Amino acid sequence: MRLCLNIDHIATLRNARGGTEPDPVEAAKICERAGADGIVVHLREDRRHIKDRDVWKLRETVTTKLDLEMGASDEIVAIALEIVPDLITLVPENRLELTTEGGLDVVAHKEKLKNVITLFHNKKIPVSLFIDPVMAQIEASKEIGAEMIELHTGEYAEATTQEELQRLLKEIKAAAQYGKQMGLEVNAGHGLNYSNVSGVAAISQIDEMSIGHSIIARATFVGLERAVKEMIALIK
Ligand code: PXP
Repeated sequence: MRLCLNIDHIATLRNARGGTEPDPVEAAKICERAGADGIVVHLREDRRHIKDRDVWKLRETVTTKLDLEMGASDEIVAIALEIVPDLITLVPENRLELTTEGGLDVVAHKEKLKNVITLFHNKKIPVSLFIDPVMAQIEASKEIGAEMIELHTGEYAEATTQEELQRLLKEIKAAAQYGKQMGLEVNAGHGLNYSNVSGVAAISQIDEMSIGHSIIARATFVGLERAVKEMIALIK
């Protein structure tokens, strides 16, 4: 099980004062030193946290893997094709949301997504699709050529009863198994924290997790290196 660190909220904190601190590039270095297997940033259309120059600098400095999370808009696709990250994770993006809500509807947007995936494949960039743990979405992801899927764990993370939690965990496990059977690499993420991560980490078909907010939040109390190491200890 690999852990990729989403460092968007280092930029949120920096942008609160419009200055240069804390610096996402420094944060990425600390995360890598602490054992993270990759760095994730979401370049949103409204640039509310990560800015273009952050992604360019990270492209030069990240030594593990740079995963650029993005909506499939023409503007961001053009930037990503210039930057050439190690992985693209396509997500739905809605300007008014606080964070990514729901997975991509691959079934409904097959043609558009297939064209975008082809553009990235022409640059030899693998593509992951952030989807809900739904079999039809997994099949459509495979059909349009994605190498990977990232299963949305947000609903699981927000479950309020044990029954709901177990039901949603079963759904994620079944989706992970199905994804693997179809030959896809399977990642998971959204809303995972120190209390709820172990259920998902126990699913052997999941290769990688993408976690941000909870680790950056804990880092404000114990420091980033320790917050990352604590999460790695939990998921391993
Ligand atoms: N994976 C995806 C596709 C996301 O959009 C996000 C949030 O940016 C994450 C993982 C990380 O979620 P969280 O910040 O809740 O850990």
